[in-house]
Amino acid sequence: MWFASPYPAEYSERPILYLCDYCFKYLNSEYALMRHQKKCPIKVPPGNEIYRDQNISIFEVDGRKNKIYCQNLCLLSKLFLDHKTLYYDVEPFLFYIMTLPKKEGYKFVGYFSKEKQCESGYNLSCLLTLPIYQRKGYGNALIAFSYMLSKIEGKLGSPEKPLSDFGLRSYRKYWRYNVFKALTELQLMDDELIIEEISRKTSITENDVLCTLYNSGLLRKIKPNRSNFHHKLVASGPDLSFFNENDNDFLLNKKYELFIDPEKVLAYVQD
Ligand code: COA
Repeated sequence: MWFASPYPAEYSERPILYLCDYCFKYLNSEYALMRHQKKCPIKVPPGNEIYRDQNISIFEVDGRKNKIYCQNLCLLSKLFLDHKTLYYDVEPFLFYIMTLPKKEGYKFVGYFSKEKQCESGYNLSCLLTLPIYQRKGYGNALIAFSYMLSKIEGKLGSPEKPLSDFGLRSYRKYWRYNVFKALTELQLMDDELIIEEISRKTSITENDVLCTLYNSGLLRKIKPNRSNFHHKLVASGPDLSFFNENDNDFLLNKKYELFIDPEKVLAYVQD
């Protein structure tokens, strides 16, 4: 679905808006775009390349140092998001730009933004995969990357709410896979400790772990007295035979070869 984005009136009133696929500059004619593309200096996102494997490269772009690039990216992503409100105030954010390295330049696939100092502990603010690249596993890889950064920072993370419908579907799938995977790897222990341990292993907050287990019918809430809740796992470890990694649809599906590999991080400097 498409939504309105606050491009300046002289552009948004035209039937077609032309965008540079490297710097997201908006132009009002094909001719203007052609002229721009001949001299566009941004064939590589304007930041540090912090991840590279055989498929993708990810760049960290600072909203303070590259304001116009990040503002243009926010205007573009508003076209695909109903509730997004960040367009111009990009300075407090870092932008993680996923690209496909090609001979002619680094092709933009998608990105997520992250607040530099987030008091609520969010590890992702806005997430987008360009429509032509959707349903190929890139959204999942961006989410995985956001949790990997949290792990490097020694923190737990959760995405900023509200999530869009597609955002929620993508997260539910990511959480389910990773929570189940962690659960199958754990030795039997006290249920409360299991939640804590899954959270520690995955960097997914305990609350998101709990919700994932409830939604999957794997956890029951028990209230032994007025003030206390306990959680009871319905299955764990070997009991989870229905989650067999080898024939699981996540792994059968080739696109999930796009898993993020922590060994491929080039440099990540924490604040
Ligand atoms: N319909 C149904 N399920 C969908 C879906 C859709 N259009 N898009 C994603 N999903 C679910 C599916 O379970 C999918 O797995 P599957 O294809 O194996 O069934 C899973 O999410 C992840 O898909 P993936 O290919 O990794 O994600 P993506 O690259 O398509 O990106 C978004 C997902 C959310 C980033 C993308 O849809 C998007 O940019 N949407 C517009 C902006 C937005 O809503 N951002 C989220 C803000 S919170």
